[in-house]
Amino acid sequence: MAGAYILGIESSCDETAASVVYAGEKVVSNVIFSQIAAHQPYGGVVPELASREHLKAIVPVVRKALADAGHTYQSIDALAVTQGPGLAGALLVGIGYAKALAFALEKPLIAVNHLEGHIHAVLLEERQKANREMNFPILALVVSGGHTHLYLAEERDEQWSYRNIGHTRDDAAGEAFDKVAKLLGLGYPGGPIIDKLSTHGDPTAVSFPPAQLKHRDRRDVKERDVKEKDPGERAVEPRFDFSYSGIKTAVLRYVEVHDMKASIEARRKALAGMAKPNLDDYLRHCDRKTLNLVASFQRALIGDLVTKTLAAARACNTATLFVTGGVAANNELRQRFEHDAAMDGLPVYFPSRPLSTDNAAMIAAAAYPKFLVGNFAGLDFSAEAGMVLGGAAIGN
Ligand code: KG4
Ligand code: ZN
Repeated sequence: MAGAYILGIESSCDETAASVVYAGEKVVSNVIFSQIAAHQPYGGVVPELASREHLKAIVPVVRKALADAGHTYQSIDALAVTQGPGLAGALLVGIGYAKALAFALEKPLIAVNHLEGHIHAVLLEERQKANREMNFPILALVVSGGHTHLYLAEERDEQWSYRNIGHTRDDAAGEAFDKVAKLLGLGYPGGPIIDKLSTHGDPTAVSFPPAQLKHRDRRDVKERDVKEKDPGERAVEPRFDFSYSGIKTAVLRYVEVHDMKASIEARRKALAGMAKPNLDDYLRHCDRKTLNLVASFQRALIGDLVTKTLAAARACNTATLFVTGGVAANNELRQRFEHDAAMDGLPVYFPSRPLSTDNAAMIAAAAYPKFLVGNFAGLDFSAEAGMVLGGAAIGN
């Protein structure tokens, strides 16, 4: 049956989300319940708390997604749920509920990789705008709180496959935003607030050395071993890796050298006492040095992300670039990618901001090609916290 209505469920981290998507091309409803308020006092996501919050939210969120779509449990054609990667306990809430619904309703259930979901957020919205012509190869940068991954994406007979050609060796880009914000007493999550504050500082005030990748990644060594054992048959593909723990340490060192700890503590206390601080509240508690530091950090990280991604795009003769995941909501990142990719004549696509961060529409959209070929999950699958997408970048 073509043209199905799929109910997607996403619970991999700190958003409980449900959405009804028609045929992977039209968002009919999209409900996102953010747990940020619950995690904020701890300065990051607390896994145990996330599971409990998902348990509280999952039933009303799914009900609202169906009601907003004008659907009932019975009228949808299939269910889709995030299998991984993510927090195991959080994933299990969505999976357990989706399995129970699929069993009771006798509807097919589709297990989806969260990273594939982020890639399909772009495809879904482009189809929604009637843009169905994507030129291949597509290079997708998935840049979020847990990932900074580059994939070459291919489509054959409406089925998608992915090859990973780069990843972060340590912190993900979103993780660096979050850790730097925490370090500067700016609260959680760091990305959105650093994004807003950056326009108020001088991005050239502090210089950060470019990230050096001194060591071979363990996976690269494995690839080399494969090549040596199997010469001529498999060529090692170049990797385009990232590293963001160095820049976070450089910010820490700057804070120590410039005696900023007392003012950071004062800011942390002042902001913690406010229910929902707005931009003016943040600005009132940030001196020039802090604003300059924040703007310089963002400029350096985004410069690195854009430069490396475009180098990978050139090396792979990429025809189309996707940039997706929570960090893709960043204003400077979008402007810089648009500007630099245009210089290379490379079209770049982002999801809208609501579909850049975690949502269930992307899960329902990624499930549609699997629905078309009956790639359904049994009721015995479980959460896969470290689930990978596609094969490693060995051979052709
Ligand atoms: O995709 P997402 O919602 O969850 C994961 O799969 O990780 O991404 C969340 C991450 C957080 O690290 C958050 O700080 C970051 O995306 N983020 C941003 C912005 N909005 C969210 N980073 C930079 N600028 C933003 N505007
Ligand atoms: Zn995500």
